[in-house]
Amino acid sequence: MFLTPPGSPFPAEPRTAVQSLVASRIREVANAGMGRADVLPFWFGEPDEVTPQVIRDAAKAALDAGDTFYTHNLGLPALREALAAYSSRLHRPADPAQIAVTSSGVSALMLVAQLLFNPGDRVVAVTPLWPNLLEIPKILGAEVVSVPLALDTGLAPPRWSLDLDRLLDALVPGTRALLLNSPNNPTGWTITREQQRQLLAHCRKLGIWVLADDVYERLVFDGLAGEVACAPSFLDLCEPDERVVSTNSFSKSWLMTGWRLGWMQVPASLMTGLGKLIEYNTSCAPGFVQRAGVVAVEQGDAIVRRTVARYRAARDLLFERLSSPALRAAGVLAPRPDSAMYLFFRIEGEQDSLSLCKRLVAEAGLGLAPGSAFGPEGEGAIRWCFASSPDKLADGADRLERYLSAR
Ligand SMILES: Cc1ncc(COP(=O)(O)O)c(C=O)c1O
Repeated sequence: MFLTPPGSPFPAEPRTAVQSLVASRIREVANAGMGRADVLPFWFGEPDEVTPQVIRDAAKAALDAGDTFYTHNLGLPALREALAAYSSRLHRPADPAQIAVTSSGVSALMLVAQLLFNPGDRVVAVTPLWPNLLEIPKILGAEVVSVPLALDTGLAPPRWSLDLDRLLDALVPGTRALLLNSPNNPTGWTITREQQRQLLAHCRKLGIWVLADDVYERLVFDGLAGEVACAPSFLDLCEPDERVVSTNSFSKSWLMTGWRLGWMQVPASLMTGLGKLIEYNTSCAPGFVQRAGVVAVEQGDAIVRRTVARYRAARDLLFERLSSPALRAAGVLAPRPDSAMYLFFRIEGEQDSLSLCKRLVAEAGLGLAPGSAFGPEGEGAIRWCFASSPDKLADGADRLERYLSAR
């Protein structure tokens, strides 16, 4: 952090809340290796494939038709309607009046924080967690209290699991919000329906907001493959007007990370405030991007199915490799995630995942994300995004094995 030298007559510094934000350690590792052709990048949560053609064609057609102007604050009516129909198909009936389109999932999270958090508010989050979710509330001056998942090594294979009683105990009267990302980045942990019921009942009783980040809801691999595979969501249980907010994104389900398009579903009573906030943040999401979004939502089920099949095979390959005798002997303890696109594995005895990840980049050409990027509870673990082709994953596993075995 560059701060004005002591004694300067004109200190040019950000607010203290901004000064104390933690910089992303995922970026710190990636900055050390980005652009190097010899590094295999598994550090970010994005696929190694471009967005499907049908979606790109829709954006091109919209641009050619002259869609280059400002649009509605809350999103194009056509996209809000498509998203309400999509949500109604996956969850309970939803109305376009509950849907706001945002310029990315992370922008939706920032808007929710601006909408709901006052300085000093207590926000309880299940961790390890994607760093943006931990830092955004702090920008508004809220305090984030962590309830950690545990890697249950008594199970075969080990699994990340939630101590529900501990979470309920942390949700004391006066808590402003529960912040929950399921399926979870980085662990792949997925909340059960019963846990959701108990949490919702508790939060209802105490007037606590439930903020559910649902960006990975479609990327589920086991036991949930119905006609429309989707992880359990609070939107399956809540009434339209209660204190539940679901944020979502086009990035993961339809391979659109660079497009910066997301949405949220909220009680309609929040829309007036939300419209003002969107006006003063971004004013609107780009029209031609939203046109492509309509096509993704309405015609994208085949893309989701193909993506899930690809990631399931990738998860199986990586899990098998990380559980091999050679990597077990090197201290690797790998769970088998049910969902999302990450394998968050421990290395026994490892205390400094950031330094290990930097060395893996420099010495093995392997780009992974340090567990400590996801809060102190993530230390000792490493996140591997497996949204990649089998040959790259196998090559990466070879590199990890060679590096750890030689230590
Ligand atoms: C848990 C979680 N929420 C939200 C997002 C935001 O997605 P985007 O801003 O690309 O829409 C991500 C991206 O990695 C994520 O992992």
